[in-house]
Amino acid sequence: MDSIGPVGLQQGEGAPCYPQESLPCPSDSSELVQECLRQFKVTGAQLRQIQASLLSSMEQALGGQVSPASAVRMLPTYVGSTPHGTEQGDFLVLELGATGASLRILWVTLTGTEGHRMEPRSQEFVIPQEVMLGPGQQSTLISWTKGFRCSGVEGQDVVQLLRDAIQRQGAYSIDVVAVVNDTVGTMMGCEPGVGPCEVGLVVDTGTNACYMEEARHVAVLDEDRGRVCVSVEWGSFGDDGALGPVLTTFDCALDRESLNPGAQRFEKMIGGLYLGELVRLVLAHLAQCGVLFGGCTSPALLSRGSILLEHVAEMEDPSAGAARVHTILQDLGLSPGASDVELVQHVCAAVCMRAAQLCAAALAAVLSHLQHSREQQTLQITVATGGRVFERQPRFLSILQETVMFLAPECDVSFIPSLDGGGRGVAMVTAVAARLAAHRRLLEETLAPFRLNREQLAAVQAQMREAMTKGLRGEASSLRMLPTYVRATPDGSERGDFLALDLGGTNFRVLLVRVATGGVQITNQVYSIPECVAQGSGQQLFDHIVDCIVDFQQKQGLSGQSLPLGFTFSFPCRQLGLDQGILLNWTKGFNASDCEGQDVVCLLREAIGRRKAVELNVVAIVNDTVGTMMSCGYEDPHCEVGLIVGTGTNACYMEELRNVAGVAGDSGHMCINMEWGAFGDDGSLGVLSTCFDARVDQASINPGKQRFEKMISGMYLGEIVRHILLHLTSLGVLFRGQQTQCLQTRDIFKTKFLSEIESDSLALRQVRAILEDLGLPLTSDDALMVLEVCQAVSQRAAQLCGAGVAAVVEKIRENRGLEELTVSVGVDGTLYKLHPHFSSLVAATVRELAPRCVVTFLQSEDGSGKGAALVTAVACRLAQTACV
Ligand code: BG6
Ligand code: GLC
Repeated sequence: MDSIGPVGLQQGEGAPCYPQESLPCPSDSSELVQECLRQFKVTGAQLRQIQASLLSSMEQALGGQVSPASAVRMLPTYVGSTPHGTEQGDFLVLELGATGASLRILWVTLTGTEGHRMEPRSQEFVIPQEVMLGPGQQSTLISWTKGFRCSGVEGQDVVQLLRDAIQRQGAYSIDVVAVVNDTVGTMMGCEPGVGPCEVGLVVDTGTNACYMEEARHVAVLDEDRGRVCVSVEWGSFGDDGALGPVLTTFDCALDRESLNPGAQRFEKMIGGLYLGELVRLVLAHLAQCGVLFGGCTSPALLSRGSILLEHVAEMEDPSAGAARVHTILQDLGLSPGASDVELVQHVCAAVCMRAAQLCAAALAAVLSHLQHSREQQTLQITVATGGRVFERQPRFLSILQETVMFLAPECDVSFIPSLDGGGRGVAMVTAVAARLAAHRRLLEETLAPFRLNREQLAAVQAQMREAMTKGLRGEASSLRMLPTYVRATPDGSERGDFLALDLGGTNFRVLLVRVATGGVQITNQVYSIPECVAQGSGQQLFDHIVDCIVDFQQKQGLSGQSLPLGFTFSFPCRQLGLDQGILLNWTKGFNASDCEGQDVVCLLREAIGRRKAVELNVVAIVNDTVGTMMSCGYEDPHCEVGLIVGTGTNACYMEELRNVAGVAGDSGHMCINMEWGAFGDDGSLGVLSTCFDARVDQASINPGKQRFEKMISGMYLGEIVRHILLHLTSLGVLFRGQQTQCLQTRDIFKTKFLSEIESDSLALRQVRAILEDLGLPLTSDDALMVLEVCQAVSQRAAQLCGAGVAAVVEKIRENRGLEELTVSVGVDGTLYKLHPHFSSLVAATVRELAPRCVVTFLQSEDGSGKGAALVTAVACRLAQTACV
């Protein structure tokens, strides 16, 4: 596109004139100018159209749908975390492509202290043209853009090429840790504004953006947790033709003459490498049509690359003044008149305004995607901006901001310029990777003692088995193996109306249980037991219980009737008969005085006596495990084990009477309340107990007691997690090392949070919500780690519980001399029922450790009160039979 010859009007002395006709020229000159400028106008509707089509192309690419001329690439960068502010160390950064034909080397020192920044040292090297276009022995590069075109590099791993080059030089020891897109560097180097800095936007030679995406949305990643930074690669948007309506004849000419025709169409309308060229093409066209420079061109005006971004920026800047524009044009060999200068300014402004608006449409697509996928009413976010277009053209940012507000009004965006041209951010990526690796090591070390292998679990099973045998024989054992005087499960012939009490779980209940031919009908009411009553005097506690019964009788119209009563009392009792139970010691949160060593049925009868108006006939006292087994046994005759995993944990099962020391008789069975919560109180669990278990135990109301229960049940798991979180915070692994008052508060971390946090249906976002409600200032890495802590703690609990069940079912099988035992376990308890994985982990452990037992777990639907009523019913039936 060089000169043809000096024809036409000559404007200044000595100034050559080069008119040329390459584009059609409308006849009327002002119409021609308007037409040119109009081409660069993009309407609001067109911008919305671009926003929508880019959004849909982003979502398609994320979903793994590759269209033939895929519009955007959405490349995961494997950067999974934004900076903490605690990163430290020395890092070298090579920046290729950021500032055009140069290579910048930066030495960045991070101090690890927020607000304490050390200026990086940097040096820039020019890359000669022959190197940029020559052979490429210089990440897998997909394609070159922005004027680079070295051979043998596309499709290669850039890190490996760099390592090879370092090797070829010898003498250096440099570890290449990360290859980072400039947008990622921009995002990572930015200090957060109103919201976290999770978008990086670069408009330099080229343009692109990156942002933090939920990993589960990125189909190519086999990962459903956490976030990953995705490079949108929006420069290639429109390569499939989507930009058709806004493309000008100048865009088409520019593309045709570029190094990569047909590619990077969006970038060619926005990137700094192209803005000057667009302006040049328009000016050349207007000159050739005789509208500018008196119809004269110059060799410079007709040569590719003669107008640079810097020129456009200066000419477009209204404050620059006509003189400066004049000089620039003169340097191009042109002789502008006053009206030419004004017109050139208009052209520059139109080209730049369009670039900023298009860029805004693309950014708005990213922001609305984020707002949608995070389900936020208002997305508060910081966008880090970088690149020479922002630096040189202040108006670019203001147009961008205005247009983003128009296109994505539901996003509250603060724009923050990146520091050190993104180089600091690249160092940050490396530093964050180093921090994450160190934190992961510390997390793994902390959780390692919670990860039990098969041998450890088999050892627990064997110890449990030995303790069972000793306990049954009446020898010293941490398992008390208490006879319950329940000798049979229901046979279905029981009938009548019964009262039942259920004390010791989360709720205290009074029930009316009607056992009839058609089944069992239950009416119940929950009453609260305030902590001051549970830990007050025994008399106060039992008076409160009787008050609740009276209230229930009145409400049910049962006053004056003396129904047989079954009492589920979920604490260790030495029973001397069905209706006699000496409380051995309180467990869980109870500690009422003057009860231990007393017969609980007597304490209840005395309280009834104090309340003269009521008459109650207490027939049976049962543990909740027994009530649960009986309740499930009514439906399934194979149910011979009862298991509770709730506030506390315990199990009971049907043992051969001949094995039970201290109870007369050698034939038949008796249900044994194992009180397995106390397993290990003799120190036998010592090797498995972690320092966190020790802390929970020490802070409890019964230190040294119920050690197995304290590793398994709902009353304690949240506390174990809290102590681990405190420890990880003190190591700086969590919550940026900031200890909060909240986390120091006992019982603040409820066990139900474990169930909620581990629930598959809840995204990590909700995990964050739970923790934020607790006042914990967390990042998404923190949320992931908290999840892992919860998983480790609940998995150990479930596996220990499974080892216990395996010991029980194996004992039943051996008692009966069976090759294979089919048995059901009735289960109750909030942890077992609400936790998403607990039950399947228990079952898996039992399958592994007791392979010769076919175990079915039945969840008790009606609570153990129904079982207590059934025990009472059986006792009444037997008593009646005895009278006949
Ligand atoms: C209930 C039973 O359903 O579960 C109680 O009726 C038992 O007897 C309780 O104690 C155990 O679970 P949690 O979670 O309430 O302690
Ligand atoms: C505690 C009690 C026990 C009860 C269990 C479950 O371990 O000591 O009796 O069965 O909690 O509630």
